[in-house]
Amino acid sequence: METPLGAIYSTNITPDPETGIGNYSFADFKRAVKHGVTPDNRPLYPAMPYPSYVIMPDEDIAAMYAYFMSDVKPVVHKNGDSTIPWPLDMRWPMSWWQLLFAPDRDFVADPKLSELENRGAYLIEGPGHCGACHTPRGLAYEEKSMAMKDHDVNNAFLSGAVIDGWRAKSLRAEARGLASWSQDDLEMFFKTGRTDVVAAFGAMGEVVEHSTRYMTNEDIRAMAAYLKQLPPAKDKILEFEPKEDITTAALQAGTDHSRGALLYVENCMVCHRADGQGIPRIFPALAGNSAIFAKNPQSTIQVTLEGGKMPSNDIDVMDFAMPAFNHLSTDDIVEVLNFIRNGWTNQAPKVTAKEVDHIKDFLAGKSPHLVHAGETHE
Ligand code: HEC
Ligand code: HEC
Repeated sequence: METPLGAIYSTNITPDPETGIGNYSFADFKRAVKHGVTPDNRPLYPAMPYPSYVIMPDEDIAAMYAYFMSDVKPVVHKNGDSTIPWPLDMRWPMSWWQLLFAPDRDFVADPKLSELENRGAYLIEGPGHCGACHTPRGLAYEEKSMAMKDHDVNNAFLSGAVIDGWRAKSLRAEARGLASWSQDDLEMFFKTGRTDVVAAFGAMGEVVEHSTRYMTNEDIRAMAAYLKQLPPAKDKILEFEPKEDITTAALQAGTDHSRGALLYVENCMVCHRADGQGIPRIFPALAGNSAIFAKNPQSTIQVTLEGGKMPSNDIDVMDFAMPAFNHLSTDDIVEVLNFIRNGWTNQAPKVTAKEVDHIKDFLAGKSPHLVHAGETHE
């Protein structure tokens, strides 16, 4: 995980006694998961989302402990060291951080919500730790809000943030948030990582592939129901001005000679099509896809440079992939992204060369994924 301070490697949590958590008692496990403190009293960086897990009741923690200790195979694998430089890597200031930003607390059900919506709230605030990516962070890397309180639109909860060079969009009821998503769309997305319009990519592809697709239908329904009733965040556009699609006809007739249109025809149209609708569940649409017209373009830049593969799931037979376009120049990326972000009925601010170069630098500096303890990093 890239943090503003350096890379942090997630640790071995198989029950291997030497390199994993095999020697943890239940009390040790609970303290690490809910409070971010290891048995030798080392505080953990909040890249581990214990500020969210703290609301989980002991019975859920006990169920996880039983699962880890009896069902997970022990693997011998030493942990990698973080690349956070001295003195920022000193762990003791983390104890103060934990006192300030990760206090002990319980889940509080909202009496105005149904039982199903409250179940969704619990899953999203706690075990799902959706806010770890979707809630903006403050100066001390703390999430600005850990829950939605009293329908307060000033509340930052799930209002969108950037993590690892990906824009985790707003999950509130705005035009650029989830306003264009139905309950069914959300359920299908959490179950399979695709709808007829979008495909999960980047960090969210991993969330679907390793997590939400294994949830029960009832829990998926609960999360979607909870998200659908969230109010829009402060100062966000609720609805776009109506806009006519002149892009499709121009692409079909070959009358748009702009650089962006030519790049689109040469590189993208074979999959995403002239009408920008892609092919349902095979290639995502670019028209009317809320991931494309997000105000912050980082996700669209990164997926275009790096490509991506749809998360695997139990319904679709094939996981389709998008090739990387990192051979295109910065100016070409700018042109093609401005074309898709404002083509068809999409409306979004212009992408700049500076923003594309920023993501190129970020990708060039990414640390390798597999590192072993004591090894140095590039
Ligand atoms: C590791 C970071 C991370 C976590 C944790 C995370 N998300 Fe996301 N999410 C993202 C990113 C990045 C995107 C944008 C990429 C995309 O649209 O697929 C995203 C997109 C989404 C979208 C919209 C997809 C689209 O195409 O517009 C929904 C809905 C969503 N997340 C819901 C959730 C829920 C609910 C949870 C908790 C169960 C969650 N996310 C947890 C990073 C994360
Ligand atoms: C070979 C087919 C193919 C081509 C060519 C292609 N894409 Fe994609 N595109 C995909 C697939 C498949 C995904 C889903 C990737 C994922 O889920 O990680 C995708 C996803 C995207 C997304 C994210 C939207 C979403 O909901 O997942 C953007 C933005 C995008 N493509 C832009 C482009 C641009 C710009 C070009 C041309 C420069 C292009 N694509 C060319 C197949 C393609």
